[in-house]
Amino acid sequence: MASANTNVPRYIPNLSPSKSPFPLLNNQTSSTMEMESPLPTQNELGTGRQRGSFRDTSSCTGAEAFLTWDDLWVTVPSSSGTDTRGKNNGKAILQGLNGYAQPSEILAIMGPSGSGKSTLLDALAGRLASNTKQSGLIKVNGRKSLAFGTSAYVTQDDELTTTLTVKESIYYSAMLQLPESMTNSEKKERAETTIRDMGLQEVMDTRIGGWYNKGLSGGQKRRVSICIEILTRPKLLFLDEPTSGLDSAASYHVMDRIEKLTKQCGMTVIASIHQPSSEVFDLFHKLCLLSFGRTVFFGPASAAYEFFTLNGFPCPTKRNPSDHYLRTINKDFDNVSLIQNEDTEQGLEGNNCKLLTTEEATNILVESYRLSQFSQEVKLRVSEISNKEGRILEKGSHACFLTQSIALTKRSFVNMNRDLGYYWLRLGIYISISVCLGTIFYDIGYTFDSIQARGSMLMFIATLLTFMSIGGFPSFTQDMMIFERERLNGHYGVTAFIIGNTLSSTPYLLINTLIPGAIAYYLAGLHKGFEHFLFFVLVIFVSVILVESLMMIVASMVPNYLMGIIIGSGIQGVMMLNAGFFRLPDALPNPFWKYPMYYIAFHRYAIEGLYKNEFKGLSFPRSQGEGSSTITGEEIIEKIWQMPMSYSKWIDLYILFGMVVLYRLMFFVVIKTSEKIKPILRSFSVAHYKPTKQSNHGVP
Ligand SMILES: Nc1ncnc2c1ncn2[C@@H]1O[C@H](COP(=O)(O)OP(=O)(O)O)[C@@H](O)[C@H]1O
Ligand SMILES: [Mg+2]
Repeated sequence: MASANTNVPRYIPNLSPSKSPFPLLNNQTSSTMEMESPLPTQNELGTGRQRGSFRDTSSCTGAEAFLTWDDLWVTVPSSSGTDTRGKNNGKAILQGLNGYAQPSEILAIMGPSGSGKSTLLDALAGRLASNTKQSGLIKVNGRKSLAFGTSAYVTQDDELTTTLTVKESIYYSAMLQLPESMTNSEKKERAETTIRDMGLQEVMDTRIGGWYNKGLSGGQKRRVSICIEILTRPKLLFLDEPTSGLDSAASYHVMDRIEKLTKQCGMTVIASIHQPSSEVFDLFHKLCLLSFGRTVFFGPASAAYEFFTLNGFPCPTKRNPSDHYLRTINKDFDNVSLIQNEDTEQGLEGNNCKLLTTEEATNILVESYRLSQFSQEVKLRVSEISNKEGRILEKGSHACFLTQSIALTKRSFVNMNRDLGYYWLRLGIYISISVCLGTIFYDIGYTFDSIQARGSMLMFIATLLTFMSIGGFPSFTQDMMIFERERLNGHYGVTAFIIGNTLSSTPYLLINTLIPGAIAYYLAGLHKGFEHFLFFVLVIFVSVILVESLMMIVASMVPNYLMGIIIGSGIQGVMMLNAGFFRLPDALPNPFWKYPMYYIAFHRYAIEGLYKNEFKGLSFPRSQGEGSSTITGEEIIEKIWQMPMSYSKWIDLYILFGMVVLYRLMFFVVIKTSEKIKPILRSFSVAHYKPTKQSNHGVP
């Protein structure tokens, strides 16, 4: 590829006004210089001073965000990335990028698909995947790290609560995020204005919809995601392809509204964009053009036209300039580009054309940008901004904990009610199973055989009914994904989520255990007396909550619900095995199965409680035919089931309840730890990682 650089004559622009041969460029260049506002003063850096022309200051408070990145490299391990010494240098997705974004401006990141747009956004937002390595310096207001939950990020996938209508989604989100200083009606009004801004008023009462029912179109979902993130007018907003799925008119309106908010509230917006129309393109202040992780151009969006022209790739008259840029640098199809050498200053004749592959064309542009004044300007500006330390960017969300917990409980309750897969389907299955159980064990009686029958029936209830909780796992994973997105964007914390989930699910779990429990209990004729039935239901109820808590922990650690179902059922399977039923407690092999597994398995406490509840106080004939001598319930529990009678059934229930609390706490710790550890691990890997400064794409 080096040959392309040396053989092809090209013009490397020196953009000083006096030297440029192009009158247009002279104007452009001077305007370029003027567009760069003077350096941010200490006051401007984070004091919220307005740089835009107009502003509704009531909704725009807090520090403004100046973001810089210097020599940013991101690599991933690559099977083909080994060098001659067999060392894996990895594949560089981003290669030494420099750039900045400042308040009241939109920076558009453009490039062919796979050029590293999303990776750049992830790196800037501190959300790179764990298999990536990053080096370089990213600073916000001159400070090194972006505090957790301080920026808003609309990712490429729309993770939304599918059962809610557009209005409900935005309204709940407003309740979760907007500050206590706003009244409920003001929050509602903000939600409705934002819905109208994004052109969603016609579908306000339509449910978002998921795999089971068609609701909104892809473009409408995209706009709902944007709505949710712009409610609070965040100071730093990342948008990954906000206009995909939108027609050109909708794209324009959405971007136009974002541009107005950007100016009004001094927001710093970084948006990756695919194929903008020329109207949308005109809304961007800065453009970062990437090709395979290298900068083709970074500078005022309006100057890209001249940059391409000067380097021999003028935009044909009828082509949209942004289409032209992408076409010139898209290497996926290796088109042939035409380079036009127009070095008029040296007196050469124009129209000296040469055919190049897009790879050669890209290399020319990358090299030309590297040597251009644009690149020098960016470096200068980056060092100027990053050396001034401003105010720390604060969390956007100010709703109080109570408001958040109430909003989350309500939202989750509505979702659980509307999502059939969450609890209703399970209730149907539970009722069917309990009818089967009740009829199979109908009128169980008090014979010697009924001891075994009771034991089996109670074991089945304690295991299968809790095991079936896995059925709701896909719906729960969906909830977790939304929680993850909202938590990362700083909408609320893990405690509010746990409270919301616990309170909203409790009534459903109660129905799910009470009705099937009653059917099975009374059909079989288990221990008479309401208090015995109540204890029976309580044990199943707490066990089901326990399994849900266990699945929460699993969900926070696995990437998708299929893996969650497999791992969750595996854990429960093992616990069932050593609960002391299939193999009696005294026969469980030591040390592993008896200590500690027998004490960890929650089924053990469930059946212990259920057996004590059932057998204590009853007596049975000692064996078939021997009517005279009887065996008491206490003896059955101790001798047949080998369970201790030294403590009451209530202790078993308390232990189960304690386990629920412990599991929920564990979920909290897992989330909090990953929140704290991830940035430390990343900064550790950044500090110790030095990329090999070699290009995978032929640029020296
Ligand atoms: N975590 C990752 N592991 C491996 N490869 C990755 C990872 N993230 C991105 N890539 C690769 O990096 C390239 C750029 O990806 P991306 O930033 O998503 O591109 P864009 O958003 O411009 O379409 C792609 O080839 C993609 O496969
Ligand atoms: Mg992308």
